Amino acid sequence: MKGIILAGGSATRLRPCTKVTSKQLLPVYNRPMIYHPLNTLIKAGVKDILIIIAPEYAGHFLNLLGSGKEFGARFTYEIQDEPRGLADAFIVGENFIDNDNVVMILGDNIFEDDFTDAIKNFKSGGKVFAKRVLDDPSRYGIVEFDDNQKAISIEEKPKNPKSDFCVTGLYIYDNRVIKIAKNLKPSERDEIEITDINSWYLKNSELEVAIVGGEWLDAGTFDSYLEAQILAKKKLAAKMII
Ligand code: DAU
Repeated sequence: MKGIILAGGSATRLRPCTKVTSKQLLPVYNRPMIYHPLNTLIKAGVKDILIIIAPEYAGHFLNLLGSGKEFGARFTYEIQDEPRGLADAFIVGENFIDNDNVVMILGDNIFEDDFTDAIKNFKSGGKVFAKRVLDDPSRYGIVEFDDNQKAISIEEKPKNPKSDFCVTGLYIYDNRVIKIAKNLKPSERDEIEITDINSWYLKNSELEVAIVGGEWLDAGTFDSYLEAQILAKKKLAAKMII
């Protein structure tokens, strides 16, 4: 299983704090934000990790993280020239993924859960992790379940969400994801959407949707960024291995 951290993008929602640096380099309590998703992957046994970054701050990431040796891992870097969407990670990362399966985590997602078993037991198809969100489900990818708790649809930032279960930013796919990403058409916001990849697997009855049991946050807005810092201080910092 290869690992990808998607840490590019322009983070306009955190301006002016992201005017001269990258969101994923901002501190979340006592560590740079990117340490959190890195910790999640390394703790789950994923040691071969591609870090996808925007050109502006590429040198900063290299200075901070280096080869990965310090973390008992191996880091590879790729530049994403333009924020073309989350699904673009599998095109930018094609050579790195090679013939393997891949787990991708978003650089601004903070998880309490341990994904070791999910990653170890993954065989094929796609697997995503949903969490109930209390406010503003329209900010996320939203998954709808039928009466038997079976996922029946996934929509990206729907105006009228069909549930309050959001798809969090950790995704496990088999190697077909590269081909699927390459065939996607950009959405209205001109991005190739991870939700379209999930919908592809769902239509083929090959998407497993698990529930996130612990805390989870997407630290991409000022309020959730503040919450992430409090969560890190209260619950996560003491358990981190990096
Ligand atoms: O956090 C979970 C949500 O993440 C999901 O529920 C949504 O389905 C998914 O689309 C995504 O939504 P966001 O609006 O939060 O995505 P955002 O644009 O903030 O990008 C997430 C991370 O990926 C962020 O760290 C920046 C990075 N990124 C984003 C884009 C669009 C890139 O590195 N390159 C890109 O092209």
